[in-house]
Amino acid sequence: MTQTKTLTIVLAAGKGTRMKSRLPKGLHAIAGRSLLGHVLAASDEALDGDVAVVVGPDMTNVCNETEHCSPGAHTFLQAGQKGTADAVLAAREAIAAAGDVFVLFCDTPMLRPETLVEMRAALDAGANVAVLGFEAADPTGYGRLLTSESGDLLAIREHNDASEAERTVRLCNSGVMAFRCPDLLGILDQISCDNAKNEFYLTDAVEIARNAGLKTVAVASDEAQLLGINDRAQLAVAESVYQDRRRDDMMRGGATLIAPETVWFSHDTVIGEDVVIEPNVFFGPGVTVGNDVQIRANCHIEGAVIGDGARIGPYARLRPGAKLGANVHIGNFVEVKNVDMGVGSKANHLSYLGDGRVGDGANIGAGTIFCNYDGFFKHRTEVGDGAFVGSNSALVAPVRIGNGAFVGSGSVITKDVPDNALSLERAEQSTREGWAEKFRTVMKRRKANAK
Ligand code: UD1
Ligand code: CA
Repeated sequence: MTQTKTLTIVLAAGKGTRMKSRLPKGLHAIAGRSLLGHVLAASDEALDGDVAVVVGPDMTNVCNETEHCSPGAHTFLQAGQKGTADAVLAAREAIAAAGDVFVLFCDTPMLRPETLVEMRAALDAGANVAVLGFEAADPTGYGRLLTSESGDLLAIREHNDASEAERTVRLCNSGVMAFRCPDLLGILDQISCDNAKNEFYLTDAVEIARNAGLKTVAVASDEAQLLGINDRAQLAVAESVYQDRRRDDMMRGGATLIAPETVWFSHDTVIGEDVVIEPNVFFGPGVTVGNDVQIRANCHIEGAVIGDGARIGPYARLRPGAKLGANVHIGNFVEVKNVDMGVGSKANHLSYLGDGRVGDGANIGAGTIFCNYDGFFKHRTEVGDGAFVGSNSALVAPVRIGNGAFVGSGSVITKDVPDNALSLERAEQSTREGWAEKFRTVMKRRKANAK
């Protein structure tokens, strides 16, 4: 067997006690993607080779997420949570067959792929062990990187085991480590649990490797990408750092954000050029926006594709399966779910369009409802090209409004409307001339007599 394949081990078996959650920590999300998903995306981008995710007992959901984010990755079970070195050794079998080994934590999701490439460069430059560090504004809780005068990495001291003097060190361990050791398993097997937490610390590998004459180095990077997430306050900090990154990417990509700090992107949002996004817009996963689109204030958009030149909002809600063609207008208090809308169609006010298709150039009047659900099944509504649906109409699916057809306001349409027909479903209007005048006279008299 060749010994050259890179192995990336992502540790996700920790209990995540400080999250106070029934969900494993790696499944908490930033910008709609799990922490684990972020880490796997960075490693898949930067590193070739095999991926191993170490999970704890009863973490089938973490295994499923691994399969979803990085198909082909292997999962290994760490039976008891005995520390990060013990977790790495759960993947012993994979390590035995590997060349370079990278260890990443699922709770450090902001890591950039470029940084992993720098770690690889440190190995190429002769390091046997490279540890990614950062200067922490508040180092409390992190392991400290102890370096020599000449900058060599001597050891990593966990916060709980550090002396007062060591605690003043601000250079912290991010948890990301890269190994190019002839006998990595031999080093890991020497790690003991003789420390404050009685755990097998992966960080002890540095001193052991050094004592064996290997070269150990620290690679420094910025704190923003190395934030460790142990509780929900740190999760919120990471989310806000990540959102800033995305807003920056979007603006660089040609979008105008009038109040960037109020716009929330998903990890996978795609925005075209010359898109203007007004304040308070939220993007859930799976949104693609074309060019020259205006998204006005206070919209909630997920799983939607928006064509060039469309105008959305203010106060619009686009749900999964909304596919809007070029120049479509969706106005205030309109909800669209699982509907294809053709070029230039409009639904400008107060409507629910769910499950169906609207052709090109159709006009959906204010208050139109696609009645898609009968309490048991969902049904489709089809509105043809150039059709005109009058205000306050209920289209009871399954139903089809033909091309060029008109539906009169206030109709409850339960049967198909042929092309170019007018359908009207409401009582005929009756008018009595002069009735109001007589009514007022009678009523005024009645009121006077009652006193
Ligand atoms: C760890 C590092 C610390 C570093 C910090 C950076 C060690 C001993 N300490 O501390 O030096 O500054 O991260 O954020 O490595 N895990 C397992 N199995 C276990 C224990 C942990 O899989 O038995 C996983 C966790 O799921 C997590 C990662 O390892 O993804 C780190 O564990 P955590 O307990 O959060 O370590 P920290 O105390 O943050
Ligand atoms: Ca941690």
